[in-house]
Amino acid sequence: MLKLKGSLKISGDKSISHRALILSAMSTGKARITNLLESEDVMSTLNILKELGIKIFKDGNDWIVYGNGTGGFIEPKKSLNCGNSGTTARLMIGAVSSNPINCTFIGDDSLSKRSMSRVTKHLEKIGAIVHLTKKDYLPLIIHGSEELIPCKHNIQKASAQIKSALIIAALNIHGKTKIIENIATRDHTERLLKFLNIKIKIKKIKKKAKQIELNGPYEFKAKNIDVVGDPSSASFFIVGALILPESKITLKNILLNPSRIAFIKVLKRMGGKIKVKKIKKICGEDVGNITAEHSKLRGINIPSNQSAYLIDEYPILSVAASQAKGKTIMKGLDELRYKESDRIQSIIFNLKKIGIEVHEENNNLHILGKKTKIDKDIKIKSFGDHRIAMSFSILNILFNNKLKIDNKKCINISYPDFDKHLNYLL
Ligand code: S3P
Repeated sequence: MLKLKGSLKISGDKSISHRALILSAMSTGKARITNLLESEDVMSTLNILKELGIKIFKDGNDWIVYGNGTGGFIEPKKSLNCGNSGTTARLMIGAVSSNPINCTFIGDDSLSKRSMSRVTKHLEKIGAIVHLTKKDYLPLIIHGSEELIPCKHNIQKASAQIKSALIIAALNIHGKTKIIENIATRDHTERLLKFLNIKIKIKKIKKKAKQIELNGPYEFKAKNIDVVGDPSSASFFIVGALILPESKITLKNILLNPSRIAFIKVLKRMGGKIKVKKIKKICGEDVGNITAEHSKLRGINIPSNQSAYLIDEYPILSVAASQAKGKTIMKGLDELRYKESDRIQSIIFNLKKIGIEVHEENNNLHILGKKTKIDKDIKIKSFGDHRIAMSFSILNILFNNKLKIDNKKCINISYPDFDKHLNYLL
């Protein structure tokens, strides 16, 4: 039986890579970005910034960005193509909204089925003119303005993309913008703003809610940014080590932001032998090494109040649950329906194919772990969803390569080095 062994440096974090590019583009001066994730999603953001007049080029392994200021975007000559990337679309719509330019945003088939009004309804309220050509979806035309109205936004959905779009827009709005998020989500935008010495006020207002106050317009100097390893990418190998007998791996230089490593607590509750060692702070984020080894896993209940912090890890947690003893129930997965695929459906479809008892009830996912044996090839459908393809690639090791996963190239959306890194650990 194959096992995972050794130590590895995981590729740069996707969320931070998008934000490093966008905020550098809105700064003044030259930023050097190290360890930028060169995945399709991040390249969509990079190419859109170029269309908006930002000078960006590669220097060795680094990327150099010359910022044009918070109001420095130039009207693009062609449509801005976000590809498969929800983060690109939502954050860049926010970024251009407070610049006096007209932009058309387009995306691939999957992205063109994902809600954009969740961001644009807030922007319309403050004066941006938005034309959604298909009700809620791309293509979208936005007429931005330098005179958007500063006001208070109340975000009900747990979405870092909505929050970040409004924060980025507010960088070029004259006056006080207040953003209330009722469920705190990943806070990389806020951390990066602080690292860039941008004055924002953040206060807790209820147990889980927080208010972010900005007073724009801002002018800030570019700083070099080092992108740390992506914990969501690391999660595939961590689960791989837990489920494959005799495995033991160490993943280095991983982002340890609490809003991103909740999956580790979940896996530990399932019996996973995982150790996390904090080593340093880089650009406002905690960073460290994670060790994981083969463990006997048991099924658990994962409450819905965790869903904002596990949102990208449910597919690989489902793989872990399929190999655990007993039942795992993951509650409150509503938002999972609106990702790169309907991930509840994608998980159920594929786990059923390998003989796992799995069902959904009111967006709660029930998985009964079972050591199944497979003696013939089984077709797995990625649904063009990178996290589904990677999750089942890990399970595939356990099944001696009998899972035939379609469209594996979608992995390039978030982790182009996935196969290379996996082979290195095997
Ligand atoms: C992201 C936020 C999450 C996550 C996505 C990246 C971000 O989406 O699923 O992969 O970088 O802000 P939502 O917070 O909108 O659910």
